[in-house]
Amino acid sequence: MCGIVGYVGKKQATPILIDALKRLEYRGYDSAGVAVLTDKGVEVYKTEGRISELEAQLPDINGLCGIGHTRWATQGAPTTINAHPHVSGNISVVHNGIIENYNELHKFLNNEGYEFVSETDTEVLAHLTNMYYKGNLVSAVIQGLKKVKGTYAAAFLCGDSKQVVAARKESPLIAGIGNGENFIASDVTALLKYTRDIVYMHDYEIVSLAGGQIQLYDFWGNPAKTHIDSIDWNIEAAEKSGYPHFMLKEINEQVTSVHDIMMGRVSKLNGDVALDEIKLSMEEIQNLERIVIVACGTSYNAGLIGKCLFEGLAGIHTDVEVSSEFRYSNHVLGDSTLVVAISQSGETADTLAAIREAKNYGCRAIAITNVVGATLAREAENIFYTRAGPEIGVAATKTFTSQLVALYLLAIYFARIRKRMDMDRSKRLLASLTQLPGMIQQILNSKDLIKKQAVRFSNAKDYFFLGRSLNYPVALEGALKLKEISYIHAEGYAAGELKHGPLAIISKDTPVVAIATRSPTYDKMLNNIREVKARGAQVLAIADLNDAEIDKNADAVIRIPVTDELLNPVLSSVVVQLLAYYSAYALGCPIDKPRNLAKSVTVE
Ligand code: G6P
Repeated sequence: MCGIVGYVGKKQATPILIDALKRLEYRGYDSAGVAVLTDKGVEVYKTEGRISELEAQLPDINGLCGIGHTRWATQGAPTTINAHPHVSGNISVVHNGIIENYNELHKFLNNEGYEFVSETDTEVLAHLTNMYYKGNLVSAVIQGLKKVKGTYAAAFLCGDSKQVVAARKESPLIAGIGNGENFIASDVTALLKYTRDIVYMHDYEIVSLAGGQIQLYDFWGNPAKTHIDSIDWNIEAAEKSGYPHFMLKEINEQVTSVHDIMMGRVSKLNGDVALDEIKLSMEEIQNLERIVIVACGTSYNAGLIGKCLFEGLAGIHTDVEVSSEFRYSNHVLGDSTLVVAISQSGETADTLAAIREAKNYGCRAIAITNVVGATLAREAENIFYTRAGPEIGVAATKTFTSQLVALYLLAIYFARIRKRMDMDRSKRLLASLTQLPGMIQQILNSKDLIKKQAVRFSNAKDYFFLGRSLNYPVALEGALKLKEISYIHAEGYAAGELKHGPLAIISKDTPVVAIATRSPTYDKMLNNIREVKARGAQVLAIADLNDAEIDKNADAVIRIPVTDELLNPVLSSVVVQLLAYYSAYALGCPIDKPRNLAKSVTVE
């Protein structure tokens, strides 16, 4: 997704803009550009392709104020002309979002004599601001934005003064406060090197950076109050620490992240989960009739496991919906329905729209997210932070297992309040949860075995992942991870569905990953393994450490430590993540930034 940055201070702006843009690369992009105010006016440089290509063509630029952009093409091809910044007269603009009334504004601006050079919707922002500019950039930006329907995080630079003005509506934007210098960016990772004092901008807020000061305004141009948050992530956490890829670093960090999310929330002694962040009363929890989980991508797969937990442990009927479908479907919702929105970034446009839609029906809402201050956290009255630290690799890994732990804790919390789980059971389950970090470490120690299997099958064209019950969402996640980063076509299937179609394409050339940990459906899973083996498929099983039976059925086995069967998804997920990683590695794929994908999908 597009990334925007801006700087006003005493240092050269260009290196800071380029460095901050590089830290936003993980969001996904296909062109990049900067605009810097120099003695000669605003100089704009942009190119299709990578930031390194932009850097290679930059001359020496002497300027202390500028804006920059990485573009993820939506309207208009990924060309240099369509790259941001876009310019109209003295005004340059970078933008993340979508201008929905583009056609109308394009016509209006044409009639006013403005000529368009690009195919982008963003260019209307440049012309509108230029049209309204009479010496006051804040007021011109506000007047222009009042005509816009759609979403934006946009930053504006004018040739007249050392000032950057930025505004936000439904696309992420933060401001950073330094010593005599100030910044704007799409997210915190871009600014960690420079400051940890962050202002999370709200919708319809405008920020002006000038003369070492930052000033916020509301949509009517009145000065607004600035709330500064101090971030405790450090720059090392956002860098690779010696790993070849962020993804591998983040897979390894699960030993810590799975531990951190439980800190202060789990009492093994009395079997209780303390969730101070959940403001629902005991009575409201007892009266819950239904939970609807809304999420996209990997977070959706976590939601499917959440359904098993909320139903199995707390006895609450649960539906899981893809956010983009939920927002346009007919609903039967009410005040005894709880909506749980899961989003690692907290900025996924469809999930934000889904939670807003549910709130219109009077539903209570819980957000599970990893990013403090994200838009989702502001939409929900209850925020469950997963505390996994920055995740840079586009393919979600540690945030997924942290989402799972959040769902275990929430389900146990509800089950205890609804008297569906006695203290003994909850003590045992919580004790097992706290053993997970050590078990993840054991799996990481057997990475060479997983690598060997990944390399062995890396030339496959199609892969299948099979699972039943709680292992079915892990099969979906395994297939998603593999196709995201290695580009191998992969399908996750409920093993019982095999006979209803997919068996037709199983052959010796389709490796099958069977997630076959001990559960009431274990024997059924063995049957499914035999079914695919009878069609010649090579089967790689993920099974319990003490399972002797599996060797007779599978061609190769990756073993995971024995835990409470409910918790197996956390462990088997680590195996499928490593399998995807080493497959992509063997194929030489750009693991952290897969083609066509973005870390945070902030447009519909
Ligand atoms: C993008 C990312 C996925 C992620 C999905 C949902 O597609 O590439 O890794 O699962 O968005 O993101 P969210 O931030 O809402 O969890």
